[in-house]
Amino acid sequence: MRLAGKVAVITGAASGNGREIALRFAQEGADLVLPDIYFNGADGLCSLLSVQGRRCFATQTDVSNKQEVDQMIATTVREMGRIDIMVANAGIQIGRPFLDITEEEWDRVIDVNLKGVFLCGQAAARQMVAQGDDGCIINIASIMAEVGASGAAAYAASKGGVVQLTKSMAIALAPHEIRVNAIAPGFIDTSMTEVLGAPVKRMLEERTPQERFGHPAEVASVAAFLASTEATFMTGSTITLDGGFTAGFFSAQAVRAAATAAAEAAAEAAAQRTAQGADV
Ligand code: NAI
Repeated sequence: MRLAGKVAVITGAASGNGREIALRFAQEGADLVLPDIYFNGADGLCSLLSVQGRRCFATQTDVSNKQEVDQMIATTVREMGRIDIMVANAGIQIGRPFLDITEEEWDRVIDVNLKGVFLCGQAAARQMVAQGDDGCIINIASIMAEVGASGAAAYAASKGGVVQLTKSMAIALAPHEIRVNAIAPGFIDTSMTEVLGAPVKRMLEERTPQERFGHPAEVASVAAFLASTEATFMTGSTITLDGGFTAGFFSAQAVRAAATAAAEAAAEAAAQRTAQGADV
């Protein structure tokens, strides 16, 4: 149990990656606070974790609203006494072609994905500094910090911002023994990617060397590692887990076509050799 005695706040834990991170942190012994805009989802998870013996409560919090974030941090300190780990996971994507994005859509994505990470990180860090112990902040970025997509301009910009924010936070908070790192997942099977539909999913899998989407539990494993004492010299880093998506150009179809062509050429060459042998 690598997180025994720790209090972790995980935003956006009602579903997907946040939910798996909460389940994993609970297994590792942490007590949990789960702020989510979808209260019932986070509260249901808390009931499950409480049965398993963990202290846990949910809050109805919009991470883009400073007042709500400050209130959530104050409630956490009142109920749990402290904050050791903040996972800024809550995020949204509004799929829209670049030429059609409205100002409101742009603002909403940046507010939740980037300002939300800032607000939660700053409020948690202030509490950690006041406690005087070490602390850990994990920001959930995305491979979209590194690559773009035509239907995700605001999302990609927000995630690029999260990676850069992580670095500045790490430098600012290192004197206080607070480590700040980011995780950049590739395509993960959650409600966020469910909306892509089967043909797009298949195309993205074909473009991924491991030829599949990741599971939220695989994101949770990396988060548990970063939160543990196994990562004490890591700060300002972004860990990518994407099945090789950003490693370079890859196409499963092209690889299979090349393998088939090579096998056919080898068979033809062998047949020719056999025929020449027969002639002699
Ligand atoms: P999800 O849609 O399953 O979960 C998002 C959670 O955030 C939900 O529980 C939702 O209620 C909550 N949320 C949304 N807006 C909120 C707000 N304003 N305040 C508080 N909570 C809010 O999506 P998923 O995939 O689990 O996303 C979690 C994080 O992982 C996001 O930051 C996302 O950008 C990131 N990510 C996801 C990837 C994927 O392929 N699914 C890939 C890379 C990053």
